[in-house]
Amino acid sequence: MLKAIGSKVDLNDKELTTYYHLVGDLLENELVLKMKEFKHHGETTCFQHCLNVSYYNYRICRFFSLNERAAARAGLLHDLFLYDWHTHKPAKGERLHGFTHAHTALMNVKENFYISDLESDIIEKHMFPLNITALPKYRETLVIVLVDKYCGLLETVIPRLKKVCVPFRRIGARLRKAPQE
Ligand SMILES: [Fe+2]
Ligand SMILES: [Fe+2]
Repeated sequence: MLKAIGSKVDLNDKELTTYYHLVGDLLENELVLKMKEFKHHGETTCFQHCLNVSYYNYRICRFFSLNERAAARAGLLHDLFLYDWHTHKPAKGERLHGFTHAHTALMNVKENFYISDLESDIIEKHMFPLNITALPKYRETLVIVLVDKYCGLLETVIPRLKKVCVPFRRIGARLRKAPQE
């Protein structure tokens, strides 16, 4: 089952989801699947992060009647930098990952997929305002700027909250099992 964080919708359900029809080819693409090999935030892989961003991008852009197709597709490709940024050492003179990966991802995407100007803007400028000179040109780009940060926060916080809740859940389970007086 393919799910975005915080959602119960099975994104692999070809019958039910319009979303799948927009990104189905990308979800089966070897390069996109390669992102499963790299951790991004905590235990969340780069692939899962991109899926989370893509799905919420799509939902929000659909709600506001923006280009939901570009939002979904560029969302899925926005972090296609294909290395482990935790261990990646910048070359001499190269800036840190946070400043460079959007451009690296865009170059990888352009080499392997056909993308529109809008999709290119979404990928290249998703790190605004960290990349302060990469000013979003489209409303869809502003959406990813927010969604990317929101998903990053969920991916970092939710697994930690789950860990903290484990002892409380165990106590709750024991209390439910204990005989009533
Ligand atoms: Fe990114
Ligand atoms: Fe991202």
